[in-house]
Amino acid sequence: MSKLGSNIPVHAENVTFTYSGNPALQNISFTIQEGEFIAILGPNGAGKSTLLKLIAGLIKPDRGVLSVFGMYPWRQKKDVLKLIGYLPQRENIALDLPLTVQQVLTIPLKSIGVRVEEERVEYLLRLVGMFEMRDKTFSELSGGQQQRVLLARTLINEPKLLLLDEPFNGVDIPSQEKIIGLLQELARRGITVIAVVHNVNPLLHEITRVMLLNKRLIAFGRAEEVFTEENILKAYGARIPVVICDEGFAHPLYGDHHG
Ligand SMILES: Nc1ncnc2c1ncn2[C@@H]1O[C@H](COP(=O)(O)OP(=O)(O)O)[C@@H](O)[C@H]1O
Ligand SMILES: [Mg+2]
Repeated sequence: MSKLGSNIPVHAENVTFTYSGNPALQNISFTIQEGEFIAILGPNGAGKSTLLKLIAGLIKPDRGVLSVFGMYPWRQKKDVLKLIGYLPQRENIALDLPLTVQQVLTIPLKSIGVRVEEERVEYLLRLVGMFEMRDKTFSELSGGQQQRVLLARTLINEPKLLLLDEPFNGVDIPSQEKIIGLLQELARRGITVIAVVHNVNPLLHEITRVMLLNKRLIAFGRAEEVFTEENILKAYGARIPVVICDEGFAHPLYGDHHG
């Protein structure tokens, strides 16, 4: 493969993935550059989670080429996993584990024989504003606090690529703001961030590009190029007004439309 060991976080060429006869993604091609902050949007069932799973190497494309830092994620899982932090969709995480906040960060890695430095755990818990709560039981935290702890956990191995599947689901506004500030800071440090979100507006001023997905790649580019009436109609099957804010950004106004 030509991009072996490259600094291209994600490169996809005609990637297709099908779950037992139902195509979830068809002919997806794109390249994400180092340090980008990408928002992925699309209606339910658009294949957003599937795309993150492909990048994380949890599933393998049926057709096409997908590389992560020049490696095939499903074939070089271990090497790729060292470079990425993956936060699955909240619905797919067991949140009732009787662990303390601190244990959530240390135990999973101990089990695979990776030693976690105490200072690193402290640093990360401080980073997400959860150090004071390190001895609290994880299941007793609010949704936003849990998500901050899980985000800290994805950062343990100092990933170069962060994959976040709906990181703001069940998260209160103060926690959301805290997480966005943190992602912004990580992106500034050159970490590539890919976040699946339902509402792009809180992130719109921070992201480099938006991907609009509905089984096919509808559009991928700067928000003002992507959020056209035509693209939104293709992705969501509905008309959603777009307003330009004072700073010149194109914001889709979802109203109560959830896609
Ligand atoms: N494990 C699975 N087995 C069968 N079908 C699945 C599975 N996971 C997802 N799908 C289907 O694939 C499509 C894309 O799902 P998903 O990637 O989760 O979409 P999104 O995250 O955009 O809501 C949906 O039609 C969904 O029902
Ligand atoms: Mg999903």
